[in-house]
Amino acid sequence: MLAGLSAPQRHLNCKYFYDQRGSQLFDAICEADDYYITRTELAIMDEYLEEMVEQIGRRVMLLEYGSGSSTKTRKLLAKLEQPAAYVPIDISEEHLLQAANTLRELFPDIEVLPVTADFTSEFELPRSQKEATHAAVYFPGSTIGNFPPAEAKQMLARFAKIVGSDGGLLIGFDRQKDPTTLEAAYNDSQGVTAAFNLNLLHRINRELGADFDVDAFEHRAVYFPNEGRIEMQLVSKCAQTVNVGGKDFEFSSGEHIRTEYSHKYKIEDFTALAAEAGFSLRKHWSDPKQYFAVMYFVQNAD
Ligand code: AVJ
Repeated sequence: MLAGLSAPQRHLNCKYFYDQRGSQLFDAICEADDYYITRTELAIMDEYLEEMVEQIGRRVMLLEYGSGSSTKTRKLLAKLEQPAAYVPIDISEEHLLQAANTLRELFPDIEVLPVTADFTSEFELPRSQKEATHAAVYFPGSTIGNFPPAEAKQMLARFAKIVGSDGGLLIGFDRQKDPTTLEAAYNDSQGVTAAFNLNLLHRINRELGADFDVDAFEHRAVYFPNEGRIEMQLVSKCAQTVNVGGKDFEFSSGEHIRTEYSHKYKIEDFTALAAEAGFSLRKHWSDPKQYFAVMYFVQNAD
């Protein structure tokens, strides 16, 4: 955090959004009217669930990175053929364990093996009681969009390594579209995204003993069509000094901290990126407005 705050363009890693409060606010974003992403992906899941389950195949060990409340996954778990186990992976431990307990109640026949880890940490696959024939990663929600393409490719390559030969990847990502729709989704009229962004400063105050005057910053989200990404920022409303971990940071009025990237892809660009990471496209699905895509890839397939 200190390194990010000291950089010429100040920035903070978006993974720090997700403390307990941040995870709750994220759930609220998913229900905000302007945030079409979750609703659209759920509609695609509902429409094409049978086809997705067929692609994934029977006796899978299903891994999910950034599982959060596992809302979309419930649809899959209800339909998968004899799944060996479900492995939700998230950095927000308390939220993860609560979600795992809920899933155990909903699906008593499916072994749930939560792992507290971030996307980049290597960890060993847990052992399931039922034997799995193959593994598949489920990576919904356009979470992949948080990473610039080069890092996204590395992450896909890590997934390819984890699932191994014949392993699968079911992934959802947001597609490029008109900037107005995109910017509205990240500047929702209910102000939930603003609260989510600003919560990061509350968290830093609490956990790092910083003295951010949260009211002296405001939320902003801008779409950059050339990069195909939304950038979320926290803008300093005045000239001010903030102390973080014993170090002073001078902000000029209007200066911002970048807190998140959210990349949007074209179908063909994403397919090419996944191919470079070792995944072949098997099938993909979209909504009538072509806002979002869900794709199924297999590692090393023909
Ligand atoms: C969780 C990364 C998919 O980029 O749309 C939502 C996070 N940030 N509103 C996204 C987010 C602001 C979200 N992802």
